[in-house]
Amino acid sequence: MKILLIGERGQLAWELIRTLMPIGEIYPVDFPQFDISDKTQIRDTVKAVAPDIIINASAYTNVDLAETEKEKAMAINADGPGWLAAACASKKIPLIHYSTDFVFDGTKNTPYVEIDQPNPINIYGLSKWKGEQAIQQETGAALIFRLAWLYSMRGNSFVTKFLEWAKKYETIRVVDDQIGNPTWARFVAEATATVLSQAIATEMLLYDWFTEKKGIYHLTSNGEASRYDWACEIYKNTPNKENLFVKEIKPAKTVDFPAPAQRPAYSSLDCWKVKSSFMISVPSWENQLKKSLFFFNL
Ligand SMILES: NC(=O)c1ccc[n+]([C@@H]2O[C@H](COP(=O)([O-])OP(=O)(O)OC[C@H]3O[C@@H](n4cnc5c(N)ncnc54)[C@H](OP(=O)(O)O)[C@@H]3O)[C@@H](O)[C@H]2O)c1
Repeated sequence: MKILLIGERGQLAWELIRTLMPIGEIYPVDFPQFDISDKTQIRDTVKAVAPDIIINASAYTNVDLAETEKEKAMAINADGPGWLAAACASKKIPLIHYSTDFVFDGTKNTPYVEIDQPNPINIYGLSKWKGEQAIQQETGAALIFRLAWLYSMRGNSFVTKFLEWAKKYETIRVVDDQIGNPTWARFVAEATATVLSQAIATEMLLYDWFTEKKGIYHLTSNGEASRYDWACEIYKNTPNKENLFVKEIKPAKTVDFPAPAQRPAYSSLDCWKVKSSFMISVPSWENQLKKSLFFFNL
């Protein structure tokens, strides 16, 4: 099976490449050789690779910069995925795409379910929501996984940033009024592999199976935390703590750190649908974090 994977150098794609290797032949592409905001490149690449499935792990993910680079964020997160979905539909290729908890405004106080109404409060969230809609308009064979608070041991995630701060500062202040689901990119990659294995194992054509399963699914680790809780748990589970300089982690408020983009105060996602549809077991965020930290070299 040929898998066209877009966004090769991203933190999720890195995990996908390693996890999906036993399932198929992966054709990874990334900017600038492949630009998802270029309709012609999408068409030519899909034609040249002729994949059995396309996985889009690319995105414009700089939440604050998106406020001033609105057109770019929209082109990469909304227009490009729509064109990709159109190319998929014309060649009957199923699509896996990832979206975000930031499509919600954060005013709920119980986990968001898939049928809750999105109401993004920043450009990044808006662009990702428009991407979901564009895909669903263009193809009837796409799975869209909404992720949240994604981290890995590479790239610019909260975990890697916190560990960098912890090597430099004695006191770190972290907000305790933003609640979400810290989610290890490896878990998302493994869940994607589980879904794909199920698709391959059926007697159905891949495209028909995706048509039957199409839709939005929330996919995160189990349990919610504030960013402050998350920071404390990272510190607690970091091996080789002697290399850290930090002595104290203090709770703070979002208003203490003015930023260009507003963040939802509460964006925890309910994963019942993905669990029941694909028999995916969703581990606790604490358990995943502990495992992931073994792979981090201080
Ligand atoms: N990170 C999070 O906390 C989070 C939370 C919820 C959902 N998500 C979603 O999860 C998915 C994976 O996120 P991630 O954290 O792995 O993202 P990431 O690490 O930022 O990787 C995104 C990749 O897309 C590439 N890219 C950017 N513009 C492109 C373009 N025009 N054409 C082709 N590729 C382009 C990037 O290349 P460059 O590095 O060269 O820009 C990068 O390799 C995304 O859909 C994201 O919206 C992420």
